[in-house]
Amino acid sequence: MISWYNIIIVFLFALVSIFVNIEGRSISQFLNQESQGTKWAVLVAGSNGWANYRHQADVCHAYQLLKNGGLKDENIIVFMYDDIAHNRENPRPGVIINNPHGNDVYKGVPKDYVGEDVNAINFYNVILANKSGIVGGSGKVLNSGPNDHIFIYYTDHGGPGIVAMPSGELVYANDLVNVLKKKHASGTYDRLVFYLEACESGSMFDGLLPEGLDIYVMTASEPNEDSWATYCGEGTPEEPCLVLCSPPEFQGVCLGDLYSISWMEDSDIQDRTTDSVQGQYSRVANRTAANITHGGYGSHVTEYGDIVVSFDSLAAYMGENFKNHSHDSVDAKSFSTSSSRNVDQHSTELFYLFAKHRKAPEGSDEKYEALVKLNEVKSQRSQVENNVKHLGELLFGVEKGNEVLNSVRPARQPLVDNWDCLKSYVKIFEAHCGRLTTYGRRHVRGIANICNAGITNEKMVATSAQACSS
Ligand SMILES: *[C@@H]1O[C@H](CO)[C@@H](O)[C@H](O)[C@H]1NC(C)=O
Ligand SMILES: *[C@@H]1O[C@H](CO)[C@@H](O)[C@H](O)[C@H]1NC(C)=O
Ligand SMILES: *[C@@H]1O[C@H](CO)[C@@H](O)[C@H](O)[C@H]1NC(C)=O
Ligand SMILES: *[C@@H]1O[C@H](CO)[C@@H](O)[C@H](O)[C@H]1NC(C)=O
Repeated sequence: MISWYNIIIVFLFALVSIFVNIEGRSISQFLNQESQGTKWAVLVAGSNGWANYRHQADVCHAYQLLKNGGLKDENIIVFMYDDIAHNRENPRPGVIINNPHGNDVYKGVPKDYVGEDVNAINFYNVILANKSGIVGGSGKVLNSGPNDHIFIYYTDHGGPGIVAMPSGELVYANDLVNVLKKKHASGTYDRLVFYLEACESGSMFDGLLPEGLDIYVMTASEPNEDSWATYCGEGTPEEPCLVLCSPPEFQGVCLGDLYSISWMEDSDIQDRTTDSVQGQYSRVANRTAANITHGGYGSHVTEYGDIVVSFDSLAAYMGENFKNHSHDSVDAKSFSTSSSRNVDQHSTELFYLFAKHRKAPEGSDEKYEALVKLNEVKSQRSQVENNVKHLGELLFGVEKGNEVLNSVRPARQPLVDNWDCLKSYVKIFEAHCGRLTTYGRRHVRGIANICNAGITNEKMVATSAQACSS
């Protein structure tokens, strides 16, 4: 997390800004002088399927606000599966919205990497501008130079030390951080800002991202915390949404993610030339955490890397905003007061199936199928809970099993010491106990703790087989 070095920099900066303000000049003028290079962006929606509508909606919205800010299509690289706009469940064919009152954000979004081409290998090679490593897609890469500013935004499901991709392998934290280190070593950017939304997103950087790479990271949640979906169509009559409900035809679907829409709606309304990334952090953190105590939803937005980078203007990464956007309908008022139904990201699939079941006509095949699917997902969940519990008990005893698997390391210590161990033990677990689903991936922490405890490969194989044989 943030060290003394950063705190001192922040303090010095505060002094400088007071001084600059006294001089009668704005901070942004002071800061903007260095942003001579090209602005680049990489936008990634790491999921697919109708129930995950919101991740692609988030990415489309991000594209629109960057495009509006003057970034060129040749400098914006979009990863999205592209199965939402023309999905047969879409009540508004060909259109994607990211706010209950929002306009279409899908129109004009470049289809650089779609379908199976949305994978970890292509993502890494796009960042590294390694064309030879890319399979499929438009071939567009981050061909940046030493004076350029880079903005990366990723939204999806995650788990401890991982974020998902709709095809291929998971993105592991150490691989992602190694790619960023390589990018820095190649001298092909001035500064880089990375926004990440996923459950447990802090675990992608905590104790891993060093200072001095000129990278500032903001994550939706702490290393051991879920992130939240928002603008969710009501699931039950007992839990109506309060202010901004998604339109009724979107039952069971969330239109956005809480952290994501918080930063984007902020970027839509703020003057990006006078406002800094750090200013956005305070407002977004406030909005994302506002309801943790009221009703228990929301998360703690967290910062990593070089805090000093966040004193750049928003415009240095997102371009200036011009008032006339076609993509949004949020105004300053709705920004500060809006609240709506929120669902934690791990539970959105159940929320979707539940709503589907509820709205289907009595006695229809659709109602029956939704119920079957709902029960299947519920039983998969209890199955993975039981398997993990059993594994823990066999390895560490009935008393201590749970405690060892669920223990969370202190801040600034990475999830696991040996990432190769984690990757291979996840594979061993999946081979014997079934593939980890979006929900099940929260147990990656337990598997990491098995590595941290020094359990051997042989023992992991034998015990997984035993734990999941019944
Ligand atoms: C580029 O991709 C190729 C093919 O995957 C790989 O062998 C090579 O190491 C990559 N180069 C860099 C600099 O990452
Ligand atoms: C956070 O938001 C609330 C309104 O939701 C506001 O009253 C409060 O002043 C804000 N705090 C900060 C530090 O911006
Ligand atoms: C969220 O919290 C604010 C206070 O910060 C409260 O006024 C509002 O009603 C809450 N919204 C929901 C949906 O609970
Ligand atoms: C906004 O832009 C659209 C087309 O780009 C134009 O039709 C409309 O008149 C503009 N509105 C304002 C208020 O400038």
